[in-house]
Amino acid sequence: MEKKGKHKDDQTFLQHPVFLIIVLVFGFFMMDPLKIGPIGGIKFRPVELNIAPYKEVMGSWPRDNRSRLGDGKLEFVDQVFGPESLEFDSLGRGPYTGLADGRIVRWMGEDIGWETFAVVTSNWSEKLCARGVDSTTAKQWKHEKWCGRPLGLRFNKDSGDLYIADAYYGLLVVGPAGGLATPLATHVEGKQILFANDLDIHKNGSIFFTDTSTKYNRVSHFFIMLEGETTGRLLRYDPPTKTTHVVLDGLAFPNGVQFSMDQTFLLFTETSYCRLMKYWLEGPRTGTMELVAHLPGFPDNVRINEKGQFWVAIDCCRTRAQEVLAHNPWMRSIYFRLPIKMSILARIMGMRMYTVISLFNEKGEIQEVLEDRNGVVMKLVSEVREVRGKLWIGTVAHNHIATLPYP
Ligand SMILES: *[C@@H]1O[C@H](CO)[C@@H](O)[C@H](O)[C@H]1NC(C)=O
Ligand SMILES: *[C@@H]1O[C@H](CO)[C@@H](O)[C@H](O)[C@H]1NC(C)=O
Ligand SMILES: *[C@@H]1O[C@H](CO)[C@@H](O)[C@H](O)[C@H]1NC(C)=O
Repeated sequence: MEKKGKHKDDQTFLQHPVFLIIVLVFGFFMMDPLKIGPIGGIKFRPVELNIAPYKEVMGSWPRDNRSRLGDGKLEFVDQVFGPESLEFDSLGRGPYTGLADGRIVRWMGEDIGWETFAVVTSNWSEKLCARGVDSTTAKQWKHEKWCGRPLGLRFNKDSGDLYIADAYYGLLVVGPAGGLATPLATHVEGKQILFANDLDIHKNGSIFFTDTSTKYNRVSHFFIMLEGETTGRLLRYDPPTKTTHVVLDGLAFPNGVQFSMDQTFLLFTETSYCRLMKYWLEGPRTGTMELVAHLPGFPDNVRINEKGQFWVAIDCCRTRAQEVLAHNPWMRSIYFRLPIKMSILARIMGMRMYTVISLFNEKGEIQEVLEDRNGVVMKLVSEVREVRGKLWIGTVAHNHIATLPYP
């Protein structure tokens, strides 16, 4: 009798118009039919991401009380579009940088200015690809796949060849005179490389490069972080055999890669985990990886200076809400399906756009932390290059290069 009565109550409750409205409204939100929310129709299956505790990381992370990055200067404003990586050739010319419009350009001094140095595909055309300052906006997203998006750049100082990690065209190389780059690695283990991101060159000629995800390409890179998926890899291309190999897999948004001075190890960042990792190439720990540091935010490229220290570009920052969401995939499943713009969702999570760059020594100890606390000058930085008393700072999302005298 009791059971029956309860059953009846349930039914009445379910038939209550207020409940029905709640269900409909909730259903509407969850389906996000207007595709306002970040997920907007894609298959989205968040998984748990065991990031380091917020309190532990932020409690011990040194602050730059003088906010010294705020003294930086923005150069080449609206002349370069999303210059992710910055490189100089053996003659000291540069910077060379890859743009959101698909070109690799170089600075040839005041008289000549910026000139196009290379493109990664014969698909590239002025008409289709050259969208100027709009290249760093959603207007380029449809065309990126066609035009290319060169991310990591490195010169082989001996040959003068420039190696390129392009988000869509994989690993390529172009000679010292520039022009159309030649693909070296577009596939690994029979499948297309979906998101080549950064590279470094071993003294024996092999190229180590990151493939950020086997699931999402660059335009969809946000989903890698939101979902917490770990299909990223570290790959190696061997020129003598023209073969590509998987060195590490199961990585969470592997991004920048940098050899140590003596090349006994390399460092790489795992953006989704907010951490800097080490992979041993020589010595007793060869072939193993270990943690170097938990970072205060989302790291991009790592670049060595003349002293063998490592600059890491970090976009800020970790928040308490991010930690809770990382550990609870079901919450992300609901939160990021809300029909609210990503920028607003991020703000609700306490995210503010500003920059921290940090210098590590070979032992992984922090040597320097520079911040632009209010994000006045620098936001969404991608790489820090220290060249002759100056830091050159790239950004994947803005149309300038920032510089700062250093030390
Ligand atoms: C920065 O300020 C905090 C408190 O505001 C202080 O604890 C810390 O020692 C300062 N750091 C430096 C490097 O001055
Ligand atoms: C041109 O772009 C399309 C779309 O990304 C791609 O499938 C094709 O391989 C590209 N062609 C060349 C020559 O790179
Ligand atoms: C170069 O050295 C790396 C690191 O030890 C190794 O994995 C790679 O196979 C070497 N490449 C060649 C072509 O010998």
